[in-house]
Amino acid sequence: MTGSWDGRVALVTGAGAGIGRGVVELLVGRGAVVVGVDRDGGALQDVAGAVAGAPGRLEPAVASVTDPARLAAVAEEIRAGHGGVDAVVCAAGIQRYGSVDTTDPTTYAEVMDVNVGGAFNTCRVGVPLLRARGGGAVVLVSSAQAYASQRAVAAYTASKAALLGLVRAMAVDHAREGIRVNAVCPGSVDTPMLRWAAERFSGGRPAEDVVAEWGRAHPLGRVARPREIAEAVEFLLSERASFITGADLKVDGGLTAGLAAALPKD
Ligand SMILES: NC(=O)c1ccc[n+]([C@@H]2O[C@H](COP(=O)([O-])OP(=O)(O)OC[C@H]3O[C@@H](n4cnc5c(N)ncnc54)[C@H](O)[C@@H]3O)[C@@H](O)[C@H]2O)c1
Repeated sequence: MTGSWDGRVALVTGAGAGIGRGVVELLVGRGAVVVGVDRDGGALQDVAGAVAGAPGRLEPAVASVTDPARLAAVAEEIRAGHGGVDAVVCAAGIQRYGSVDTTDPTTYAEVMDVNVGGAFNTCRVGVPLLRARGGGAVVLVSSAQAYASQRAVAAYTASKAALLGLVRAMAVDHAREGIRVNAVCPGSVDTPMLRWAAERFSGGRPAEDVVAEWGRAHPLGRVARPREIAEAVEFLLSERASFITGADLKVDGGLTAGLAAALPKD
């Protein structure tokens, strides 16, 4: 079967797991060639196995988004193989816990380095690759925590809010080159990162119960599947979003639409 992404090339970071993997599976399923960047080579191999036989294909590239030289080498390979890319998706990210006084500076730097610096480094090589194919689109994966914070995620929340600034800056800088730049802001999504957090805060309960409890905090009553975030990413990358740039799209099951203060009988 052919798909709407036939002949198109995408660069996706965090491609080995969770939301990034969901984006790879969706785009490859619709015919794209996806260069998938992840620091975890084994995870990339798993994804390659999962998408074998799909209309498109995954080209794995083991790299950390914190390593500009390695990303430049990946970009050079893309230029040699494909001329450039039509889409860039930055999904690589990490979560660390602490308030401003309990997060040590090294941890703060690590979070900003991966979550913000990683997107910056990727777009730094991604924009010329988009230009080389006459334009395209970028999506950064931010978070509902760009708008509203839990307790004890100071560095993470700061990093996710910073990504929205980066989206606006890049949207303005590159609009005239036919490059659109947007963010998706997910609520809780069932990924290895969420499962890791659920284990950490389970207090002996099954992690499944913690995930279900977090799900109930969303008006839709559950956490998202990676595919549901990938669908929003694909929309923003597609021609259906041709007049959307500099925007942030909440994909949060209503999480940030509600107030925690319910009526007494609620
Ligand atoms: N899961 C959620 O509930 C949720 C909600 C909102 C936003 N997000 C964001 O979505 C993005 C993806 O999250 P996820 O839940 O899929 O995470 P995940 O941990 O399940 O997967 C992230 C992937 O990124 C890779 N990665 C991490 N650091 C990297 C680096 N320096 N270089 C290259 N690859 C690296 C990991 O190896 C992993 O394969 C993150 O930016 C996260 O902040 C997640």
